[in-house]
Amino acid sequence: MLSGKRILLIIAGGIAAYKAIELIRRLRERGAAVRCILTKAGAEFVTPLSLSAVSGDKVYGELFSLTDEAEMGHIQLSRDADLLVVVPATADILARMAAGLANDLATTALLATDKPVLVAPAMNVRMWLHPATQRNIQQLQSDGVRFVGPAEGDMACGEYGPGRMSEPAEILGAIEGFFTAGSNGLRALVTSGPTHEAIDPVRFIANRSSGKQGHAIAAAFAARGFATTLVSGPTHEPRPQGVKFVGVESARDMLAACEAALPVDVVVCAAAVADWRVAVEANQKLKKEKGKPLPVLTLAENPDILATIAGLKRGRPRLVVGFAAETERVVEHARAKLARKGCDWIVANDVSPGTGTFGGTNNTVHLISADRTEAWPQATKEQVGQRLVARIVEALA
Ligand code: CTP
Repeated sequence: MLSGKRILLIIAGGIAAYKAIELIRRLRERGAAVRCILTKAGAEFVTPLSLSAVSGDKVYGELFSLTDEAEMGHIQLSRDADLLVVVPATADILARMAAGLANDLATTALLATDKPVLVAPAMNVRMWLHPATQRNIQQLQSDGVRFVGPAEGDMACGEYGPGRMSEPAEILGAIEGFFTAGSNGLRALVTSGPTHEAIDPVRFIANRSSGKQGHAIAAAFAARGFATTLVSGPTHEPRPQGVKFVGVESARDMLAACEAALPVDVVVCAAAVADWRVAVEANQKLKKEKGKPLPVLTLAENPDILATIAGLKRGRPRLVVGFAAETERVVEHARAKLARKGCDWIVANDVSPGTGTFGGTNNTVHLISADRTEAWPQATKEQVGQRLVARIVEALA
């Protein structure tokens, strides 16, 4: 898959630098050529000798090295690559990149390049959350730098939170995704999150959906090279990269945004759309007044986005996938939903209390089509997204 691709890997100074070795190995297994630049701080964590042994190439380190410049000028080094990858991307190197500094070979190569850059951040959680780092990340994102991670988890420093570098397999996935991006010529639409149905200007009906699963699916589509539109209700999830994001509030807005995103090859409706809205939204805030009867909310049914798209006579996506959030008899209910909604597949998840699915990081699902039921092992929502998209890629092939 990566055969003939040339990766310039920049290894900066963080404890996660050791993961670069594994990454290089996997890249080379897939046919990529890897050349390394090791920063001075990086060399405190991993040796040039080990990098050279796994990459099968010379390791570059000094900006003003006569021999290096004679063999391969620092400009040439970055021009020669198809993709630059910074692993681990420390707070320091991200700051230098954001500022456009060129005070060592790594940052000089990053500044001199006209090639795409992917970074895998790794740092202490406080450093990651610091406004300066967040500012730099925003700057780099608007400069077109791509990010993979960081993940959330236990850190070498004993703290817990975001800042852990993504595992080599995930970085590899991002690299592969980069090389296939846009190349598959397919379009995907994903709905995510809850909807908010206004009662009056300050109140609304909502539900506990976090948007995690839908956002993860959109990210997985983008990574596999789909032109992806994510239509989402209000969530706290970060917007996945490489995705066209359309933020909406109500079910009716969501339907309109989905219709505007058509035609697509595949749609995945992961949103927890409110089934009902109040029939008449009050223009002014409802007031409580002594002696007056309590307000009565009359509900009206919302449009069913999944059923609407599945029922399209013209321009129906080739594959229409819904979700079924069930608390009992999961497969049986989901199978009935498949028929009722007219979709091709249903991803059924058990949201009964105690499973922690709603708002949690993990999901246990069944993939159900007209003729089969597959039980998937419990996995993170990212993994479920990747697996689902892998199955969709097969089905559309
Ligand atoms: N869905 C939708 N529009 C709606 C309601 C649901 O697109 N107005 C989609 C969801 O995104 C999901 C699927 O339909 O893909 C199933 O939604 P769910 O709420 O689980 O099922 P319901 O249709 O509401 O049925 P029930 O309440 O009986 O479980």
